[in-house]
Amino acid sequence: MQIRNICCIGAGYVGGPTMAVIALKCPDIKVTVVDINQDRIDAWNGPLHQLPIYEPGLKEVVAAARGRNLFFSTDINGAIDCSEMIFMAVNTPTKTEGEGAGMAADLRYFEACAKQIAKVAKTDKIVVEKSTLPVRTAEKIKEILEKHGKDDVHFEILSNPEFLAEGTAIQDLFKSDRVLIGGDPSPSGQMAVKALAEIYAQWIPREKILATNVWSSELAKLASNAMLAQRISSINSLSALCEKTGADIDELSKAIGMDHRIGPHFLKASVGFGGSCFQKDILNLVYLCKYYGLDEVAEYWHQVVKINDYQKDRFAQKIIDAFEGNVQGKNIAILGWAFKKDTNDSRESAAINISARLIEKGALIQIYDPMVTGDSINNDLNNFWKMSNFSNNMIKEFILMINIQSSLLNALDNADAVAIITEWDEFKEIDFSNDVKVFDGRNIVKSFGNSDIYNIGK
Ligand code: NAD
Ligand code: UGA
Repeated sequence: MQIRNICCIGAGYVGGPTMAVIALKCPDIKVTVVDINQDRIDAWNGPLHQLPIYEPGLKEVVAAARGRNLFFSTDINGAIDCSEMIFMAVNTPTKTEGEGAGMAADLRYFEACAKQIAKVAKTDKIVVEKSTLPVRTAEKIKEILEKHGKDDVHFEILSNPEFLAEGTAIQDLFKSDRVLIGGDPSPSGQMAVKALAEIYAQWIPREKILATNVWSSELAKLASNAMLAQRISSINSLSALCEKTGADIDELSKAIGMDHRIGPHFLKASVGFGGSCFQKDILNLVYLCKYYGLDEVAEYWHQVVKINDYQKDRFAQKIIDAFEGNVQGKNIAILGWAFKKDTNDSRESAAINISARLIEKGALIQIYDPMVTGDSINNDLNNFWKMSNFSNNMIKEFILMINIQSSLLNALDNADAVAIITEWDEFKEIDFSNDVKVFDGRNIVKSFGNSDIYNIGK
């Protein structure tokens, strides 16, 4: 079966870059990325330097394929109708209400897409789960497609989770460690697996394309993120012990990582992992384990998130302690708002919790990030306080204590303390005055003049 037209529902951090790369590598396939968010689609169709997502290398890929075989649109029905294969890459955040609130994945956007596909499709479709989902979601999707679809239309469901990391998305998509495709063992299921594998085989070596059953594929995505996050929480937990004992966390990471059975990656102590996925995917895993009655397994994975919260709190407390518990009226510069460098994404960034805690204690905050907009920063803090049940009046007062700065120098002006949260390259070498307290959440600063330096794990 040869695929000529594909569409992707969801033009976000996954849908946009993933489809741009498929379009680049498969010039004979027409790729249409659709979204309900008109502003996002307008930005994808707008100037290359203002794409809705900042990723190194992305604008070059979009420049090569857009208008040739890559299209961005809000005409979701039209795109479904014309495509033989439909990817679903919509958001699957943690539920905020109802059963499983605070833990389970909210599948409402995903289910809405499935319903729409079922209602619109007049010919057979391969439906691909690209979003990260609880294991056995395909079962639910099959039910929705069969209930709302036409009798003579057949849907084949594949699981094809995405493993890209933000900031290196294009590189990750060009040279994936593996492409996972979960499909039904039936002949039509295996034909669908083959059709998707053929697309990836245009640039990914065959031995890296791994076919599994659907449930293994769905669970492997959650498990991979959990294992990565677990390494970070492990090293972060040890950073606390280093501070008590005089061991040095960098030396510890290096020594541990040199064992080839462990390896050096994801052992960098930090202010805590951020990003839209690690926390939500682990909480989802915890929820699933509890659902299946595996309480001990649930508790094991829950601890990874708890240590991450502990690390963020510990960092904020370090700043407060350095002022003998009183940061009232102190000017604190927050360098970096993105959850890591080379992205404009700040979802679940440690910067949010840390800044909120300092502001709640009366500190004045100067925030600088080279890529995250002031609107996003304000929204992040607003939402954080709303979720923490602060009153609107309180939130208004807190907002007055934030200054978003357009340059690093402005942020540093008159700072009593500087907290470096994101490892942006421009923060590598900064000349601090002698009397500023520097708190380095990236653990790469060695020394700055005579300033007091407070490094994680030192
Ligand atoms: P995102 O929020 O950036 O994008 C999701 C998009 O889906 C939004 O633009 C939204 O408007 C759109 N959408 C929602 N409902 C829709 C509907 N009914 N019809 C059309 N469009 C709709 O999310 P993301 O970061 O791209 O993540 C998407 C999924 O991929 C999640 O499940 C996430 O866990 C997973 N994932 C994300 C990453 C990452 O690095 N961000 C990596 C791997 C996997
Ligand atoms: C992560 C995974 O790496 C991807 O494989 C996965 O596809 C993606 O989640 C997802 O499912 O969304 P991402 O969150 O974009 O990617 O970025 P990472 O590089 O994993 O970093 C996540 C967080 O961990 C960042 O805040 C980073 O600073 C932190 N980190 C990373 C550490 O604190 N220490 C490390 O050693 C590595």
